[in-house]
Amino acid sequence: MSRKLAFASLLAAAAAQGAGNQQTETHPKMTWKRCSAPGSCTTVNGEVVIDANWRWLHLDGGTDNCYDGNEWTGCSSESECTSSCVLEGADYTKTYGAKTSGDALSLQFVTKHEYGTNIGSRLYLMASQSKYQMFTLMGNEFTFDVELSTLDCGLNGALYFVMMDADGGTSRYSSNTAGAKYGTGYCDAQCARDLKFVGGKANVEGWKPSDNDANAGVGPMGGCCPEMDVWESNSHSSAVTPHPCETVEYHVCETTNCGGTYSDDRFAGGCDANGCDFNPYRMGVQDFYGAGKTVDTSKEFTVVTQFSEGLIYQFFVQDGVKIDMPNTTVQGVEGNKINEEFCKNQFAAFDDRDRFNEVGGWSKMNEALRGEWVLVMSLWDDHYANMLWLDSSYPPEKASQPGGDRGDCPQDSGVPSDVESQHASATVTYSNIRFGPIGSTVEV
Ligand SMILES: *[C@@H]1O[C@H](CO)[C@@H](O)[C@H](O)[C@H]1NC(C)=O
Repeated sequence: MSRKLAFASLLAAAAAQGAGNQQTETHPKMTWKRCSAPGSCTTVNGEVVIDANWRWLHLDGGTDNCYDGNEWTGCSSESECTSSCVLEGADYTKTYGAKTSGDALSLQFVTKHEYGTNIGSRLYLMASQSKYQMFTLMGNEFTFDVELSTLDCGLNGALYFVMMDADGGTSRYSSNTAGAKYGTGYCDAQCARDLKFVGGKANVEGWKPSDNDANAGVGPMGGCCPEMDVWESNSHSSAVTPHPCETVEYHVCETTNCGGTYSDDRFAGGCDANGCDFNPYRMGVQDFYGAGKTVDTSKEFTVVTQFSEGLIYQFFVQDGVKIDMPNTTVQGVEGNKINEEFCKNQFAAFDDRDRFNEVGGWSKMNEALRGEWVLVMSLWDDHYANMLWLDSSYPPEKASQPGGDRGDCPQDSGVPSDVESQHASATVTYSNIRFGPIGSTVEV
C-alpha cells in the first residue's frame, strides 16, 4: 500500500460531512426540568442545536458553496460531496430567528438575513455540546407550555420525538465527523429524503430541486426511524400521532422503497407515514381547540402527554384548569385515548389503510417507546399538501365525509408562498419542559 493512499483516506476522514471554521458553533442554552413526583422537579441545564440541513454547506478550506438554493453546486458525486463539503456554525438569532431565554425557545417563521431568507427551523435538545438529550418515553410523561397564537392556517409548530442516534450518527457512519454538535442524523417516519446527508453520505446523486420550494429538493436516500408526534399544531388544529416502523432505530432507505411524503407510493416504506392520529376536530369535536374555544389558542397553555404500554394520552392545562382530551363523537370510535382499539376503529371508520398494523402496530410502537428518543422542536410550512391534513379538509374529495375534516381552515389556505409572505413574523414559543414518571410533571 502506498503512502499516498493512506494520506488520501486520512484527508477524507477529516473533511467528510465535517464542520467548517467560518463561524463558531455556540448552542443557545435552554433549561428544562426532570421530575420525580408532583412538585418535585430539578432543573437541567441543556442547550439546543439547529438541524444540519439549515446550515451553510460549503467546500472545505474556502467559502464556495456546495449547495445553493435548492441545488448542489460545488460538487457532483456522492463521494466527492461527502469528502469535500463541510457544515458551518450558526448564528441562531440573526440567520434562523431562533432564540432561547431561560426555559423557553422561540422560533420565528421567516427571517431575512445578510445572505438570504430563512424559512422555518428544526432544533434538537442536547445533553452536552456533542450529544443529544435522550428520552425514554415508556412509563413517562412529557409536558411543555406553548404559545402559538400567531400560527395561522398552513403553519405547523411541531414538537415531537424521533429515534435519532445520540451522537448524530458519528459512530454508525465514520464519514460523519460533524455529528450532533452540528445537528446531523435526522430521521423520521416519512423517511426524509430532503436531507443533504443521509447515513453520513451526500444525498446528491439524483437530487431533484423542488419546483415550489426555493430551498429544498429530494435525493435518492431517506433517513427513516420511528416518530412520536407529541404535538403538531397551529392556532386552528392540533394532533398527537404515533408512527411506528418495522426497524426500530435509524436506518437508510433508497428511492421509491422509502415511501412517505417524498416517494410516489407513500405506503412503500417500512414506516407508517400516516400514523394513528388523535386530532379532536377530526374526531368530531369541533368546538374544543382554537381561538376562544375550550383550549383557547389565543393564549398560552400546557400540553401533557403520557406514554404507557399500548396507550398514549394527552391532556391540557390552561389558567390552572385541567382540560381532558374530549371523547370522539365519530360513529364506531370511542374514548379520548390512543390505543389499539382506537386506532383499529378509526382506520375502519375513516376508510383509511391500516398501515400502522402493517408495519408492526403496537408491538413495534411499544418497542420504540421503550427505546431512546431525541426531542425535536420545529416550525414549518408544507410544500406538498399545504398542511391541509392538519387544519382543513384532506384529501379535498373527503370534505364532510368521515375523517375528511381536520380543522376550520379553508381548502385554499396554507399555500407556502402565501403563508411566507402573510405570516412572516409568526412565532411559536415552547417553554417550561418537564419530564418524569406519569403523574410527576403537573399538579392539577
Ligand atoms: C368519556 O366517556 C367516558 C365514558 O362515558 C366518561 O366517563 C368520561 O368522562 C368522558 N370523558 C370526557 C373528557 O368527556
